[in-house]
Amino acid sequence: MTGIAVLGSTNMDLVAYVDRAPERGETVTGRELRTVPGGKGANQAVAAARAGGEVTMIGAVGDDEYGTELRSGLEHAGVDTDLLHTAEGPSGTAHIVVDDTGANSIVVIPGANGTVTALGPGEMAAIAGAELLLLQLELPMSAVIEGARTAHAQGVRTILTPSPVQPLPSELLDCVDLLVPNEHEATALSGFTDPHAAARHLLGQVPAVVITLGAKGCLYAARGGEPVLFPAPEVNAVDTTGAGDTFVGTLAVALGERRPVPEALAWASAAAALCVQRPGASASMPYRTEIDAA
Ligand code: ADP
Ligand code: NA
Repeated sequence: MTGIAVLGSTNMDLVAYVDRAPERGETVTGRELRTVPGGKGANQAVAAARAGGEVTMIGAVGDDEYGTELRSGLEHAGVDTDLLHTAEGPSGTAHIVVDDTGANSIVVIPGANGTVTALGPGEMAAIAGAELLLLQLELPMSAVIEGARTAHAQGVRTILTPSPVQPLPSELLDCVDLLVPNEHEATALSGFTDPHAAARHLLGQVPAVVITLGAKGCLYAARGGEPVLFPAPEVNAVDTTGAGDTFVGTLAVALGERRPVPEALAWASAAAALCVQRPGASASMPYRTEIDAA
């Protein structure tokens, strides 16, 4: 099995469903509250485990009830949580308001994720022993850079999801093998709205880029070649939450198995298309047999 280390966030998503989101200073009555495990790191870990990866989650939960729930959710998905620390204080939470049009606004409070500022010897050994490292930007940048450096020094390939998007220090970019922004993040990082132009620009900073384009699919570009569009399967999308994380987690497993890039991208696109046809984020991530069947 492909060993995948995920250095990233674990959050409890507190989702309030409302007809209309409140304006500044206003109070509205919502319909329903759902509490769902999330965090980009944990979501990618679950997606990779379901796709058949041997996944280790590195990060932290709080010593509250959410922490217990988040840990057991990951374990239930088959993710190794020995390096998921329990920090004093609250777990990370995401406070999400979803209105009737499906539009959302989100406040993330890092909680325990914010305590992950440096890596210990155990974390470094896990990264060094993995086939691939998955990084996002929901942990302190110091830990993200340390993880990328550790992987790079050992020849472990690193995939970075630049979310939430922010300027990327060159000491991080120098250690990234594949950057996977969505369309909005690609524009923010490159200054180009056209994905082809954005991809070409980003290749000046990393050796390969996949820009995910929602229902349109994804654009793959590697140094020395032209960007290539891989269309997404046409499906009836009901909830795109977690699509990007499903895509990355699944892609990592395929790349770790040394499958050719076009085949890996098609497989990840099939997995993400399955995810968007079902409600929820991690709950809607497909298993390997389902992806193979799609
Ligand atoms: P994010 O969720 O991170 O914003 P995207 O919206 O680009 O990322 O979606 C990630 C991937 O999920 C896409 O590249 C595509 O493979 C798949 N996907 C997203 N929306 C759809 C859709 N409506 N139909 C089919 N596939 C989709
Ligand atoms: Na979904």
